[in-house]
Amino acid sequence: MGLPVAVAVGTMYAVPTAMLAFGFLVEYLRPDKNRDLESECNIFQGRWVFDAHHVPLYTPQSCPFITKKFDCQNNGRPDNDYMKYRWNPYSCMLPRFHGEDFLIRFEGKRIMFVGDSVGYNQWLSLACMLHSAVPQHKYVLHTKGGLPTITFPAYNVSLMFYPDDFLVDIAVGGKNERILKLDSIGNGGVVWKDADVLVFNTWNGWLQTGKKQSWDVIQEANARHNDMDPLVAYEKALNTWAKWVNSTVDTNKTMIFFQGVSPDHFNSRDWADPNAKNCKRQTRPVPGHRYPGGPHPAEAVLERALGSVSESVYLVNVTALSQLRKDGHPSIYGSKDVDCTHWCLPGLPDAWNELLYATILGY
Ligand SMILES: *[C@@H]1O[C@H](CO)[C@@H](O)[C@H](O)[C@H]1NC(C)=O
Ligand SMILES: *[C@@H]1O[C@H](CO)[C@@H](O)[C@H](O)[C@H]1NC(C)=O
Ligand SMILES: *[C@@H]1O[C@H](CO)[C@@H](O)[C@H](O)[C@H]1NC(C)=O
Ligand SMILES: *[C@@H]1O[C@H](CO)[C@@H](O)[C@H](O)[C@H]1NC(C)=O
Repeated sequence: MGLPVAVAVGTMYAVPTAMLAFGFLVEYLRPDKNRDLESECNIFQGRWVFDAHHVPLYTPQSCPFITKKFDCQNNGRPDNDYMKYRWNPYSCMLPRFHGEDFLIRFEGKRIMFVGDSVGYNQWLSLACMLHSAVPQHKYVLHTKGGLPTITFPAYNVSLMFYPDDFLVDIAVGGKNERILKLDSIGNGGVVWKDADVLVFNTWNGWLQTGKKQSWDVIQEANARHNDMDPLVAYEKALNTWAKWVNSTVDTNKTMIFFQGVSPDHFNSRDWADPNAKNCKRQTRPVPGHRYPGGPHPAEAVLERALGSVSESVYLVNVTALSQLRKDGHPSIYGSKDVDCTHWCLPGLPDAWNELLYATILGY
């Protein structure tokens, strides 16, 4: 179990104890294992603390990658406390994000985010975090094989984004009908398997309805459905993805992470606030660690699917901690709609990347 890390991290910089811990984590994160979690450090359980001294790790001005949709300050958002919360686990210290160490560890590697626009949000955040750690070094923003890519030539690290809302295939049939195929991975798989590090995410696309829906019909084997419960469709797609990992990915070579479901804040009843409607004008996280709306329904589905993968996949379990961040969305300071799905940058995705980094280090 420790071996995947030894190879992926690169022999020169691998720390044996971290490798052991990382191997252990495979077991630890498996939802089907009944371990005594009490005594172990769980970096995903904690609270948000206001800490303007340590965060944000970069400013909107210092990061050349932030697109308009996530650039809340430049879009006129009047408050900025949402940038200054640091995630503080109860049972251990989260390691400080060390961008140069990250680049050295992954020297010569290709890191690929695969997912929806929230994954893109996180990909940009990581690029900002790395650039701000080594501002003296050149970066190149380009398109490689059709994919947006940011490279840091001094470290020969490339950071790519593969847009894929569902992870499963959308094929175009007769009369331009868009068919969401729950049992097929499609072309993506061929590209993904060559990366050294894969960071997957998917959720929000499954909630699309009406004009926003990017498919016309759902197909599974030979059965066609005009509609399906999003959680049911999500689980079928994740199982298709899990089978693909099982059969295709050599996890001795490729490290695989799955980002937990990113929650939205379109309904203030979820955090029991009768005075709000949605995330608009929310300037503070939900206090404490318990979300009034309870666990996100898709969380259990994702954990079940990851539990069925025989190879090592690391869950970056950010759902619950993100539910508390009703203040982190662009709301009216992003695109033209009220956006309670994506996240301002700097902001919450920076914390996700800190947790991804901690997971890589073996926490
Ligand atoms: C993810 O975090 C939540 C909240 O802390 C917890 O209930 C859940 O069991 C965690 N999942 C895994 C797989 O550790
Ligand atoms: C950069 O890394 C790639 C592997 O991803 C390798 O093929 C290439 O030779 C490296 N380039 C340099 C200049 O080290
Ligand atoms: C992956 O492989 C494991 C062990 O071989 C098996 O138990 C599991 O059901 C497989 N998962 C899927 C989704 O095929
Ligand atoms: C990965 O490494 C393990 C341990 O050395 C080995 O048993 C296994 O066959 C390897 N898997 C692949 C696909 O090479």
